[in-house]
Amino acid sequence: MRMILVGPPGAGKGTQAAFLVDKFNITHISSGDMLRAAVQEGTDLGKQADGFMKAGQLVPDDLVIAMIIERIAKPDCVNGFMLDGFPRTRPQAEALDANLKNAGVGLDVVLLIEVPDELILERITGRRSDPETGEIYHIKFMPPPADVAGRVIQRKDDTAEACTARLEKYHSETAPIVPFYDGQGILKTVDGNAAPEEVTNRILGVLGVSGAN
Ligand code: AP5
Repeated sequence: MRMILVGPPGAGKGTQAAFLVDKFNITHISSGDMLRAAVQEGTDLGKQADGFMKAGQLVPDDLVIAMIIERIAKPDCVNGFMLDGFPRTRPQAEALDANLKNAGVGLDVVLLIEVPDELILERITGRRSDPETGEIYHIKFMPPPADVAGRVIQRKDDTAEACTARLEKYHSETAPIVPFYDGQGILKTVDGNAAPEEVTNRILGVLGVSGAN
């Protein structure tokens, strides 16, 4: 299974990916997580990406394309992967397509999680994550358990200002890749405006798989 998750910031891509990669036994590749790790480690890539990310802007295509192409060539991707947050622009989608064609493989499905803009700000500003496990929480919708609540952190780009910029970038740069995949006949769309478990069930439904955990 080679799969892409697309959706606006806060659509629930990371939340759903955590379940789906277990279900399909595939490798989860989050471009945002990889970039945040690079920033944390202070690598050249991280230094170049940091300012863009804090401002809610996209990191330049050449940097992100190189990072992902290198990542999907690793042995743990042979049996499949879930790309979460990549591609995000038409050049990124085309570069991925060309790379997979070269390798003689293709994508099975592109899953679009749709959530209306007016719900995004509350989801983003209320998000917290556990630095020890990477688990994603929300102060209102998915509160962390008491033993974790004291250590959760907030992402630097989860401010109202950066969220607005990210949403604008989503509509101008990322939404246009949806017709690209629709034209290939591999696009599946799910309404993400429901409780997380219900969204999971909807995803399994459009993928033709039964049995949410
Ligand atoms: P990235 O980390 O990819 O961020 P994003 O796409 O903006 O997505 P998010 O992680 O914010 O949201 P999500 O959909 O995963 O939602 P989540 O499940 O956490 O990218 C960050 C930055 O890195 C970019 O802005 C850019 O600078 C750079 N970057 C990354 N990839 C790039 C690329 N390819 N090209 C260029 N630059 C790139 O859920 C959000 C919150 O809502 C959580 O609190 C969660 O608990 C809650 N929640 C989830 N589902 C539900 C639900 N059903 N109901 C209620 N609450 C819910």
